[in-house]
Amino acid sequence: MKICIIYHSFSGITKKLAEQLQSACGGDLIEVVPQQKYNTLTAYTVGCMRARNQECDPIVPDVIDVSAYTLLVLGTPVWMYKPTPAANAAVAALRGCGGKKAVIFATCGGKPGQTIPILRNALSEKGALITGDIVFTKHDVEDPAKIGELINLVDSAEKPE
Ligand SMILES: Cc1cc2nc3c(=O)[nH]c(=O)nc-3n(C[C@H](O)[C@H](O)[C@H](O)COP(=O)(O)O)c2cc1C
Repeated sequence: MKICIIYHSFSGITKKLAEQLQSACGGDLIEVVPQQKYNTLTAYTVGCMRARNQECDPIVPDVIDVSAYTLLVLGTPVWMYKPTPAANAAVAALRGCGGKKAVIFATCGGKPGQTIPILRNALSEKGALITGDIVFTKHDVEDPAKIGELINLVDSAEKPE
């Protein structure tokens, strides 16, 4: 079993969770970074508008080949109640994800809105089989029990049926 943990993070919260998950479950971490970096002002203006419209940012890496992996994990911050434009782009960049299991996690201030359903749809359209999803608020990200729930989702997805 080989896990690929793909994430975008603007202020570091999603990144920290992705790293904690990797420490617990192993696998490779792939951070996607917008080619045009945001600052706080542009994140709340341009970024939120792009998130609301479910657009994709040009990202590095622009292709993510996951054919060597058995399980995908996708992490995104919530922007404007939706996935970030870089997270949308991460899904679009996936290659070889047909038939692979996937777990989604999102971090937010407390209002995730449509984030999980949008990513579920986008990953399903790429042929992935979503086995679990979880949302972290700013309080949850410091809660070991909640982090344990994410680890459990990944562990149970890894088990053969
Ligand atoms: C531009 C922007 C828009 C945001 N929009 C939302 C939102 O719609 N709902 C919410 O609960 N939190 C929102 N947040 C808070 C972030 O989702 C939250 O702080 C997240 O954990 C940040 O993750 P990161 O540190 O990995 O970037 C927003 C933050 C930013 C910077």
